[in-house]
Amino acid sequence: MTFQEVISTISEQQSGLPFGGEVAQYIDELRLVNPNKFGVYLKSVSGEEAYFGDAFEAFSIQSIAKVLALSLVYKELGESLWKRVGVEPSGNPFNSLVQLEYDSGIPRNPFINAGALVVCDIILSLYPNPEKAFLAFANSVSGHSDIVFNERIAESEKKNGFRNAALVNLMKSFGNIKNEVEAVLDFYFKLCSITLSCKDLAEIFQYLSIHGKHPLNGNSIISESQTKRINAIMQTCGFYDEAGEFTFKVGLPGKSGVGGGIIAIHPNQYTIAVWSPRLNKKGNSAKGMAFLEEFTTMTTLSIF
Ligand code: DON
Repeated sequence: MTFQEVISTISEQQSGLPFGGEVAQYIDELRLVNPNKFGVYLKSVSGEEAYFGDAFEAFSIQSIAKVLALSLVYKELGESLWKRVGVEPSGNPFNSLVQLEYDSGIPRNPFINAGALVVCDIILSLYPNPEKAFLAFANSVSGHSDIVFNERIAESEKKNGFRNAALVNLMKSFGNIKNEVEAVLDFYFKLCSITLSCKDLAEIFQYLSIHGKHPLNGNSIISESQTKRINAIMQTCGFYDEAGEFTFKVGLPGKSGVGGGIIAIHPNQYTIAVWSPRLNKKGNSAKGMAFLEEFTTMTTLSIF
């Protein structure tokens, strides 16, 4: 079967099945999204494309943007990055505070909120115009040049950003935040506010499936070793306290967002993005995970 046949078959089989879950409620702009949206887009390293449903509709990618932020700071700092943030799965929800106190303000990994906030703090320290620098990087990794922040979503998130504020303040008390708390939070909310479609995501994250290379001109975006390690962190930490479950069922490095999006990478094979806004209890897309489980089962193309 071709990728398109597999994707269409699973999408039709799963259409109307009750995967449950609720659209994220804590951000006003996300609460307004139609819970029944469903899109999927695959891009293979050989250039094959396959898609279904709302694959071309932009949605809030939320924490998926943390992968781009991590790529940028890893490229700039190299291994010294790991003095500020760890590479261990947290086994805790994405916005948890408890572990951070025990770990003296060093977040377990760059994908939990605490870790992503440290990454944002590093970006603020690196560039005189951090927003411009981040967007320039995000727009440089593929043929896309249209990635921007969505001010409305960022504002909406700020209204309820109490836990993120607590995380930054706690880390600041340990000396692991160098910039002003408000500046770090504002940048983080902007990072999470980006809207892209499944097609965009599958194209933008191609560099992680081709050893850190630009898909169009072959230039190195990040090194092969850094690409391997980012994929490894996605595998072990991309779904927070459901990372084991995603590995067990899907078997790909991946990253979720509370907008209901998932990007997953099969190094040397393909990138695939899925969007279904209803989230399970761990804050990951319920149907998105079920789709990808079926996809890697039918194609026998997981990394395991
Ligand atoms: O920090 C937050 O609450 C969100 N803006 C990002 C969370 C997110 O997407 C977590 N992921 N699954």
